Order: sequence, then C-alpha cells, then structure tokens
Amino acid sequence: MATELGRERAKSAIRTLRAEDAGAVAEILRRSPEAVFWPEASVKEVLEWQGILGIASEADGKLVGFLIGRQTSEEAEILNLALAPESRRKGEGGALLQAAVEEFRTRGVNRVFLEVRESNVPGITFYARHKFSKTGRREGYYRDPSEAALVMEHKLVR
Ligand SMILES: CC(C)(COP(=O)(O)OP(=O)(O)OC[C@H]1O[C@@H](n2cnc3c(N)ncnc32)[C@H](O)[C@@H]1OP(=O)(O)O)[C@@H](O)C(=O)NCCC(=O)NCCS
Repeated sequence: MATELGRERAKSAIRTLRAEDAGAVAEILRRSPEAVFWPEASVKEVLEWQGILGIASEADGKLVGFLIGRQTSEEAEILNLALAPESRRKGEGGALLQAAVEEFRTRGVNRVFLEVRESNVPGITFYARHKFSKTGRREGYYRDPSEAALVMEHKLVR
C-alpha cells in the first residue's frame, strides 16, 4: 500500500545530522529567510551542545533538509528546521518533525515547543498540521527583520 507520502519520499532518507553536514545546513538556511540563520561554524557549535538532536533528510546523496532540536529534562525545543526550497511540500519536513518527536518521546520528553515568525504562515500551518498549537507570543523575538514569535507546543501523550 503506497501512500502519497511514501511515493513522494521514495528516494530520500532520514539519518543523523553530522558535523560535516554543517556547510550544507548553512547553505539551506541562506536560502530560507523564514528560519534563523546560522553560519557553518555556528551549526558545528550547536551540534556539540548537550541534549542536541540533529536529523538530516538526504536525497540522492545530497542533504535537502534538516532539523535541530534540544532536550532539557522533560521538555524539548525545535531550534531550527528547513528544507531546500525545491524540496518542500514533498513530506520531508513532516518526516523530520515526526522522527524528532518520536526520538524525544523515547528520551522521556513530554512537551515539545518552538518559536516561529508570526508572518510565517506556511510554517505555522505546517506545525498546526502536526498537532502543535499556539500557546504564546514573544514581541520583538526575531531580528533582521524585527518580528514577534509565536510559541507553539505539542504535548506528548504516553
Ligand atoms: C515549514 C517547512 C519546514 C515545511 O516542510 P515541507 O517539507 O515543505 O512540509 P511537508 O511537505 O511535510 O508539509 C506537510 C503539511 O504542512 C503544511 N504546509 C507545508 N508547507 C506549506 C505551505 N507552503 N503553505 C501551506 N501549508 C503548508 C501542509 O498542510 C502540508 O501538507 P500538504 O502538502 O498535504 O498540504 C518548509 O516549508 C521550510 O523549510 N520552510 C522554510 C523554513 C521554515 O519556515 N522553517 C520553520 C520555522 S523555523
């Protein structure tokens, strides 16, 4: 039974994000103004932090998307998530988010949250589709351009 998601994702794979992916991650972020930009060195540094979970989406041997999250005790935050523009709307973002949520659940997390630019309607729609709901707003959270963040969270049921 090939679902639409399965067909679209047939050539891609989800794997652990590695330090050597940092350049490709920075390149995707350079092309994703909706996300927070981290240069290559910052990506490498973040991957060293305690509690970090990094997941990659790869197609034909090339990194096409990534998710970086961090667990602190029973909570986890999605710190950054982006797909290369030509790889969007094929189910890859959903696959990365589902993989992260399942891994956090396994690690004992009961609440996953994130911030998203208030103007990022595709991002907000995407997270809502994955059972995240709005729980707050942070004025002036983002720079370049300055903008408020919506806080969204997903409670994990055991
Ligand atoms: C948000 C993002 C990660 C989604 O990844 P994606 O692989 O394109 O998303 P999926 O294909 O898994 O989409 C799943 C669902 O999310 C919603 N969605 C995704 N993109 C959407 C868009 N542009 N407009 C409206 N809904 C959208 C839809 O409900 C979609 O299901 P459908 O395609 O069956 O309608 C991707 O668009 C992206 O990289 N955006 C730039 C960076 C960003 O905004 N990151 C999040 C904030 S940090």
